[in-house]
Amino acid sequence: MKVDVLLGLQWGDEGKGKVVDVLTPDYNVITRFQGGANAGHSLEFNNQKHILHLIPSGIFHDGIVNIIGNCVVLDPAIFKKECDSLKEKFGIIANERIQVAKKATLILPTHRILDGAMEASKGDKKIGSTLKGIGPAYTDKTSRCGLRVGDILLPDFRDKYEKLKQSHLRTLSLYDYDYNVEEMEAEWFAGVEALKQFEIIEAEHIVNDYIKKDNVSILAEGAQGSLLDVDYGSYPFVTSSNTICAGACTGMGIAPSAIGEVKGIFKAYCTRVGSGPFPTELFDTDGQKLRDIGHEYGSTTGRPRRCGWMDLVALKYAVMLNGVTELIMTKADVLDDFDTIKIAVKYKVNGIETDAFPYDIEQNIEPVYKEFKGWKTDISKIRSENDFPVELSDYIAFIEKETGVPIKIVSVGADREATVVR
Ligand code: GDP
Ligand code: IMO
Ligand code: MG
Repeated sequence: MKVDVLLGLQWGDEGKGKVVDVLTPDYNVITRFQGGANAGHSLEFNNQKHILHLIPSGIFHDGIVNIIGNCVVLDPAIFKKECDSLKEKFGIIANERIQVAKKATLILPTHRILDGAMEASKGDKKIGSTLKGIGPAYTDKTSRCGLRVGDILLPDFRDKYEKLKQSHLRTLSLYDYDYNVEEMEAEWFAGVEALKQFEIIEAEHIVNDYIKKDNVSILAEGAQGSLLDVDYGSYPFVTSSNTICAGACTGMGIAPSAIGEVKGIFKAYCTRVGSGPFPTELFDTDGQKLRDIGHEYGSTTGRPRRCGWMDLVALKYAVMLNGVTELIMTKADVLDDFDTIKIAVKYKVNGIETDAFPYDIEQNIEPVYKEFKGWKTDISKIRSENDFPVELSDYIAFIEKETGVPIKIVSVGADREATVVR
């Protein structure tokens, strides 16, 4: 069967973890295809909240194969911690449920250190990286000197590691930056040993074999969001991978024709964590209210997320880039208490209105808003769209009309159950 893809259409944190967990019973296989532990995907069920970083969000369901795909960057130390915590909190034995692609790139301790040194040297031009070593690891991959998961099984792995580490240390000598690599290495090599207990697979062959079978369905789980895509996002304030649907093809080694539904997920408003342009950002009490009610603090770093109104210009751009066939709107409940809700329908750039997402999104962009009457109702217990307040139905209908894509799921709370399927 074809591979469905679920990906974020904004600047990340759209609620991918929650929705993948909700959809997992419809699938046999869940795969991550890019990114690394910069992701923080939260799930809530039975009054328990858990945050996943590298592990696909199908992990809490029995009998599901979870694959960490080829274009993921994997830090064995962080992966081991995540697996240990699953065992401790839920009794889940990670290597019974997860397989890891041989071609996934390894994040070394020195990648993390380089990330910190490079960010510190940027001063106020910081990207706001999660400092997990993502950028330096992808840099090594594209400059053809990275290490891959499959390398841990080779007899000369330690030599390869030392060679790359030494080259990183030479680069680090150019920075005025303190670090202690030995301390990190002990944890990292323990992670490498733990990784050897997993099935390390030729993921592209396995996934393509699944595609040939009529009884195996696959959902690919994106990380980050389209506006953080390294090629199409708000460059240079982006991550270092292709977060858009095309990244699912390279990330798993599958043909574009193997993609089925493209499920694009967005918040009913917007957030961004880290630096970079954000046209609809609010600096007033409404922004603070979104942050407070939406608990908008980073799942990976705990940083307060910047909040603003929904941005239709950016959303339409993301829908185009991904060929979205179904939309999913999350955190609608966060807007319950607003008298007025706004959506940016155009940008004014140098006094001229446009509905195109501009090349230089850092320039002075003034959003042109359309106002909507708030529903002023607690929607968090609603489970059928027939019970939606009319103002919410109007809000949904407007976004569907503008994007030309149906909203198939509305999420009204963090819990698995707080989901309305239309
Ligand atoms: P992801 O990175 O896309 O998986 O999103 P995150 O997990 O980083 O951030 C989404 C946050 O919103 C998490 O704290 C979720 O528990 C929470 N969340 C997800 N969906 C909803 C929703 O519909 N309503 C509310 N109130 N919270 C939600
Ligand atoms: P999920 O999957 C939100 C942001 C960082 C920073 C920029 C580059 O949870 O949606 P990096 O660590 O990749 O070098 O950081 O990208 N960023 C995210 N923001 N959600 C994420 O993932 C993110 N992953 C990276 O804040 O601005
Ligand atoms: Mg997140």
